[in-house]
Amino acid sequence: MSTAGKDDHLLLVVNDKSSFDSPLLETEEKQFVRTSLKEGKTQITINQYKRMIYVQLLTPVSNDRVKSMENWRKAGAQLAGRFNAAGHQSITLVDNGNSDLLLALAEGIILSNYQFLKYKSNGKKEINSLKSISVASKKINKTEIDRLQFVTQATCKARDLVNEPQSFLNAVVFAKELQQLAKDAGFKSVVFDKKKIKSLKMGGLLSVNLGSVQPPTFTVMEYKPAKAINKKPIVLVGKGVVYDTGGMSLKPTANSMDYMKCDMAGGAVVGTAIYAAAKAKLPLYIVGLVPATDNRLDGDAYVPGDVITMMSGKTVEVLNTDAEGRLILADALHYAKRYDPELVLEFSTLTGSAAATLGPYGIVAMGNVNEELKAKLISCGDEVYERLGIMPFWDEYNDLLKSDIADLRNIGGANAGAITAGKFLENFTDYPFLHLDIAGPAFSKSNDSYRGKNGTGVGVRFLFEYFLRRAGIKKN
Ligand code: BES
Ligand code: ZN
Ligand code: ZN
Repeated sequence: MSTAGKDDHLLLVVNDKSSFDSPLLETEEKQFVRTSLKEGKTQITINQYKRMIYVQLLTPVSNDRVKSMENWRKAGAQLAGRFNAAGHQSITLVDNGNSDLLLALAEGIILSNYQFLKYKSNGKKEINSLKSISVASKKINKTEIDRLQFVTQATCKARDLVNEPQSFLNAVVFAKELQQLAKDAGFKSVVFDKKKIKSLKMGGLLSVNLGSVQPPTFTVMEYKPAKAINKKPIVLVGKGVVYDTGGMSLKPTANSMDYMKCDMAGGAVVGTAIYAAAKAKLPLYIVGLVPATDNRLDGDAYVPGDVITMMSGKTVEVLNTDAEGRLILADALHYAKRYDPELVLEFSTLTGSAAATLGPYGIVAMGNVNEELKAKLISCGDEVYERLGIMPFWDEYNDLLKSDIADLRNIGGANAGAITAGKFLENFTDYPFLHLDIAGPAFSKSNDSYRGKNGTGVGVRFLFEYFLRRAGIKKN
């Protein structure tokens, strides 16, 4: 939309408190805003009876686009709280010439407006009033608005999947949900059942699944538009452990198991990012692979000391059944070889060590992509504030994975846990590969601005940004 309607609640953003002007306000109103700004106020409200006008001072951090955009997103989250408290159903954001920042603000509002009320019996009462946001701008076009809509929608879908408890979202249901995304956005998907997984000899996935009542699944998604600019696909791989008890190497209950429904967050990122790409009709060939199972104990469960044969033929001595993610991912990474991918990006809540290293503030990343691509990926993370902390990936870490009786063991020992996990995975790749451990930021136990509480959907916005740049739509 290019102009604001007469009865719309408005949000006017002021970048510079010394020069406020707006054709939408009467002379006295403008004077009131100027005086208030001079007095040091940053939020000014004008009640025009039929509508409210919110004036928000937001000064960009000089020469720091990344910080400025993040500030705008956070301001969006704070404003969304005010709009909901006032019971507004819609709000129009008026562009002040800083389009990127305005879109970041809108993103903050949309993402912070997310709620997961499925299991609240009085959910209808708790639902936010805010339903729609318009942008009045001559500079921002419909495609940009559509893209923002798709990527925020995808992020919220990823959050939904993470927030779903295992009592609903077992491996079979997870695969169905991924297929639904494919149907809604118009890309292909196939779910391999246990029989097919057995015929493929996916020993990692089958072993982790031994303690489960539910069968495993392996979902293959393919978005291949006719006008794709890449011949070799970008392959995304995501960990789909729908619940991680640790198996026989059982996790202590109190703190470490409570939120382990989030252990499929990587798989959720993969499905929903392809959803966003397909909705936005990006000219990219993208494949998604999500191995899924829960990790439990049972009479038949795999035990520490077991040696298993992976799909690649390599043997692994399992010394801790809680290091299960790498086992199911190794099979998916081996499977990815058949696509001759230009790049494989793999997302997983893989290690407590990654969470301990960066906390909730970043994604622990490592791999063998060239320096130019690495820099590009880091820059994508900065742009959306899903930042990558790159770890070293030295060969010596492989020494920690040596087994006395098999080709590899599945744990490295007390040190460098996030890196040895990544190294383990690298043994099953033969292509440009980046491993992204999202154990820290995937699930937030306290309310974190527009990221919200619980599932954050981290990774979706990062991937979408990478897609836009790879497709040549965005240059940075
Ligand atoms: N799913 C966990 C990792 C995790 C921890 C995710 C915290 C989210 C928050 C993973 O399967 C796991 O248990 N990893 C072990 C590996 C260890 C046994 C080598 C860990 O990090 O303790
Ligand atoms: Zn585990
Ligand atoms: Zn796990």
